[in-house]
Amino acid sequence: MSAFGEDFLFGTATSSHQVEGGNVHSDWWAWEQREGTIVDGTGSGDAAGWWAGKAEEDLATAAELGQNAHRMSLEWSRLEPEPGRFDRAAFDRYRAIVDFANSQGLQVLLTLNHFTLPSWVAKLGGWTHPNVPALFEGFADRCARELGDRVALWATLNEPAVLGYMAYAGHRWPPGTGDVRAAFVAMRRMLEAHARGYEAVHRVLPDAKVGLVMNMPWFQPADPGRRLDRVAASLQDWAFNGAMLHAVREGELRFPLALGRRPAPHLARALDWVGLNYYGRYDVRFDPRAAGDAFGRHVQEPTVRNEHNDWGQPSPEGMVAQLLRLSDLDVPLYVTENGTFDPTDDRRPRFLMEHVDALAGAIAGGLDVRGYFVWSLVDNFEWAEGWSTPFGLLALDRETGERTPRPSADVYASICRARGITRELAPTILA
Ligand code: FCB
Repeated sequence: MSAFGEDFLFGTATSSHQVEGGNVHSDWWAWEQREGTIVDGTGSGDAAGWWAGKAEEDLATAAELGQNAHRMSLEWSRLEPEPGRFDRAAFDRYRAIVDFANSQGLQVLLTLNHFTLPSWVAKLGGWTHPNVPALFEGFADRCARELGDRVALWATLNEPAVLGYMAYAGHRWPPGTGDVRAAFVAMRRMLEAHARGYEAVHRVLPDAKVGLVMNMPWFQPADPGRRLDRVAASLQDWAFNGAMLHAVREGELRFPLALGRRPAPHLARALDWVGLNYYGRYDVRFDPRAAGDAFGRHVQEPTVRNEHNDWGQPSPEGMVAQLLRLSDLDVPLYVTENGTFDPTDDRRPRFLMEHVDALAGAIAGGLDVRGYFVWSLVDNFEWAEGWSTPFGLLALDRETGERTPRPSADVYASICRARGITRELAPTILA
């Protein structure tokens, strides 16, 4: 018998800016036009053509491949290109996409904001500006009114910690502030925005299920016998995972670097479910020179990385460990992203099989996990990596727009259809 119940969601995930194309009013679009921001010199451009009509083709393929859900996001910069001016045609397009998904038997999990900001919000200073949570609340309210009759599952924000570190502590994502304190301020505001967005959606849609999506890598000491490795690993874990978890569980903000403790009681109950985005494990070695990284370097081998970014070592065990941690929040769990970049698809089939297998074990062991979404359905614009690190089950030829299913698309289809790992698949892939 399958550990995955009848209602379990097996889907894939995308985000607006990464697949739509032509998001000219966003902070990312402006960033991409600047020399040297994207490693392969590309930009999002037409992306995967979703806005121009390809969403339907890809969603139809997802349904043919046995999936029953899709996680997608709304582009704030399209829907509110100027403060308070909402674009009717853009809402119509999203309605059409969501209706199409539903007509194909795909339940939609809708993320209100996946990293990108309208240029006018970016001009204020982005997430560090004190008014942005209220602006986001207004946006969330409007989206709930416009789309609420066709969407039951909502996420407010995607990965506040990743955005905080990449865009505000780091230099590689807009605005590229390069100041770790700015990152903590931004994260605080994002959490506030989450709580306000949660309330806003519920005011319009009392029965909606509203959650938050967090990326939680598994930080482990490189040498568990070495105290300094253990300290560095737990510092990194606190800065990335622990502080966020503490905030939504206890309703208290406690970020490092003397920003102090602040009560945030409205945060504590603002979750109907929580989403885990999970890519892998980091083995942390103490390094006195790595002050900016909480004195830890990542040394795991093998690992999934390019020259600029490291997604960690695939470790299904780490995914289960993080789900277990999240289960403390006492709300249903979803794996809202899991996947790997792998242009040749040598590793991806095994990656997916192992993670689904581990998830089955976790559910059988009592964890309340309601869905699993592979990142991603189709190759898309991978932020500062451009098009150099394809994550899709469907390979995209950017010249012709043609899609070619990778072998892992079929492996995942077998998983979706059988609702788990079949006896036929297991020996070939897991051997
Ligand atoms: C996650 C992001 C998603 C994509 C994957 C590879 O952190 O949410 O947009 O970039 O990583």
